Amino acid sequence: METQTIRFYHRGKVTEVADAPVTRTVLQYLREDARCTGTKEGCAEGDCGACTVVLGELGENGQVEFKAVNSCIQFLPTLDGRALITVEDLRQADGALHPVQQAMVECHGSQCGFCTPGFVMSLWALYQQKSADAGTGRAPAREAICDALTGNLCRCTGYRPIIEAGQRMMALPAPQASKLDPRQIADTLRSLRRDGTFHYSTAGQHFYAPRTASAFAAIKAAEPGVRILAGSTDVGLWVTKQFRELGNLLYVGQVADLNSIEQVDGAVEIGAAVSLERAYAALNAVHPELEELWKRFASLPIRNAGTLGGNIANGSPIGDSMPALIALGTEVVLQRGEVRRTLALEDLYLAYQKTAMAEGEFVAALRVPLAGPQHFRTYKLSKRFDEDISAVCAAFALTIEGDVIRHARVAFGGMAATPKRGANAEAALVGQPWTEATARAAMSALAQDFTPLSDMRSTAAYRSRGAANLLYRFWLETRADALPAAAVNVRAIGAGATTATATA
Ligand SMILES: Cc1cc2nc3c(=O)[nH]c(=O)nc-3n(C[C@H](O)[C@H](O)[C@H](O)COP(=O)(O)OP(=O)(O)OC[C@H]3O[C@@H](n4cnc5c(N)ncnc54)[C@H](O)[C@@H]3O)c2cc1C
Ligand code: FES
Ligand code: FES
Repeated sequence: METQTIRFYHRGKVTEVADAPVTRTVLQYLREDARCTGTKEGCAEGDCGACTVVLGELGENGQVEFKAVNSCIQFLPTLDGRALITVEDLRQADGALHPVQQAMVECHGSQCGFCTPGFVMSLWALYQQKSADAGTGRAPAREAICDALTGNLCRCTGYRPIIEAGQRMMALPAPQASKLDPRQIADTLRSLRRDGTFHYSTAGQHFYAPRTASAFAAIKAAEPGVRILAGSTDVGLWVTKQFRELGNLLYVGQVADLNSIEQVDGAVEIGAAVSLERAYAALNAVHPELEELWKRFASLPIRNAGTLGGNIANGSPIGDSMPALIALGTEVVLQRGEVRRTLALEDLYLAYQKTAMAEGEFVAALRVPLAGPQHFRTYKLSKRFDEDISAVCAAFALTIEGDVIRHARVAFGGMAATPKRGANAEAALVGQPWTEATARAAMSALAQDFTPLSDMRSTAAYRSRGAANLLYRFWLETRADALPAAAVNVRAIGAGATTATATA
């Protein structure tokens, strides 16, 4: 296969790159090659947002969709066929600031300014979305602004003026002399479309971006050692933090038939290339109990880039999606060549960082049952509300017939070397009435199911106590006489409410 050049829209034209290393990050390219130094580097691990840029892609309706991502952990070849928008693009042709920038000035949203380009780009993505949804003029809800800014840290200004800028930006006159024309970008992206696999290679390292699941499967079968790359929100850090050599890369992000969400046989089927943000939006429509987990999963830029398939395949014991998906009875669809098989998600995990995927096999999709259990909750314990790694993540699902629990699923992250069900706790629940005594018996049984470790996130004792207490909270929220302890809306507390708000 001949090597091709990386082609993407940047600064009003098509840019071509032929000689950058495969794992050169978009941020390195911007600052060191393109000399666009408005985009900053803080952490180089997706955590601070100083490097936030916006990527444009053609949506299903042929319009460009803009999404904020962290450029420090995205590899340059993944830009092929996309538009890269940075803070340098925002000032208008007549020199006027973009309304987002103007609002930041008027609301005093910047002090040292290091974080400011990142905040501006996150707000710009929200501005574009709001303009597309409703025309200019309507201020986004405070909650939408906070959500858009979950990936941006500021250590001097304080967030109030920045959030105020987000509220003000739509009230300012729309740009009259913008250098960014979404129609021109869409036309350019159409001209950059490729039919077959994009192949880029430098210094003996190869990057393949096939267009179909068949082509993807064929490359994986022919070269089982090739490293699958999805949203790069785990893999990117292996390069920027651990300086690992990754070998050849097989990119999921351009495979159209792995990027769909469909309802099939009583389940919602989510392809491996679907972003975490789209996946959680679809799952939340069916299982609204997932909303808090969705909003607390990383940050919006990470959820825009990362995939649910990557979270599942990486199989970290502290990955947040697995407990909830296991409690809901999710199956994972694995593919090797043209052959597909399904497994219960909990059976994918054999030991620490060891899965049941065979050589040449990959995660093609997940099937999450549409029918929910009668009672379902998932909880995340972490030190911060937003963008933090779980100490413990729990999910519980019960189906009760008459007065008796018929089916129970208890699943935890952070409590063992893999995401894991609590077989003893489940046995203590099934066949019993859903009472406090039953809940307490299941809480005690957790001690036989899990022997957690102490690490920098929490002690083993905290994990054990926290896990049992989450089960107790589940009982409080779902007992038949659920007065007065309905689900606590932690987001409402985060938004300034002084007491927990009942939502159920
Ligand atoms: C700042 C930050 C915050 C984060 N917060 C959270 C959080 O709150 N909760 C949480 O659970 N995680 C979190 N993560 C981790 C990460 O975002 C998730 O694990 C994410 O879902 C990984 O998906 P990805 O598409 O980016 O995978 P990648 O990084 O591209 O790949 C991850 C691994 O999965 C493999 N892989 C990917 N797709 C497939 C496939 N289809 N078949 C087989 N193998 C595949 C890759 O080879 C690699 O080994 C965070 C990461 C960062 C940087
Ligand atoms: S530099 Fe901190 S998120 Fe990229
Ligand atoms: S203005 Fe200094 S870090 Fe935000």
